[in-house]
Amino acid sequence: MTNPRHNGLRSVAEQSEEERGGPGSILSRQSRDHAELDELMRSYDAAGSPAERGRIVAQVGERALRHAFAEETVLFPAYRKFLAGDDDELTRHIEGDHQTVNDALEQLQRADPSSADYDATVRHAFEVIRHDAHDEEDDLLPRLQQAVGVEQLRAIGAAWEVQRRTSPTRPHPRVPREPPGNVLAGIPLAVSDRVKDAVDHALPVGTGRRRAAPAVLAATAAAVLLVRRRGRGRGAGMG
Ligand SMILES: [Fe+2]
Ligand SMILES: [Fe+2]
Repeated sequence: MTNPRHNGLRSVAEQSEEERGGPGSILSRQSRDHAELDELMRSYDAAGSPAERGRIVAQVGERALRHAFAEETVLFPAYRKFLAGDDDELTRHIEGDHQTVNDALEQLQRADPSSADYDATVRHAFEVIRHDAHDEEDDLLPRLQQAVGVEQLRAIGAAWEVQRRTSPTRPHPRVPREPPGNVLAGIPLAVSDRVKDAVDHALPVGTGRRRAAPAVLAATAAAVLLVRRRGRGRGAGMG
């Protein structure tokens, strides 16, 4: 069934995995990650305490930020290259939504989950994340599918996945939203985020004592290695 709002384009949500180009294509990878994000956001409503809500929001935040960073550094440059040019309105609109989500998550990172306005900020961020997924599944990805072959959809999917795994994990308000600034800023931020993640993991809030220094060091070394590998591979990648 086609969606008349988008000039006969078929939403990714209406396609089988085979029609999307197989499990490795950018359409299938995006669809799976959107569905997992949606499930995580739904679990917020069932959370039994402010602490649990805070944990779920942190998980949504990390996943959404990785997803969006990989879009801005791999998927959108590919879309602009094949279809639209540098002043493309659709990718600019989605990047604006990414910035809105980033700002809300940055605010939530410092907020108390039991405070009065926490829930409203969370729901606004979730709404924008869902809107963003619709723009991509109903419009951007079907357009890309019309313009390139299956092999290219799979190559973009593989590059997007590599970038998603090595991207920053925390909101950073000053990261530029387009290449090359976002890529250059993302490398040190990805390392520092993973160090902070490892420290948070090793030091539960309020203890003030290091419990697992080797885990911190191992995570730091792994993060540096990942970023170096990404740097070596970028010359052959998208965008
Ligand atoms: Fe997005
Ligand atoms: Fe997406």
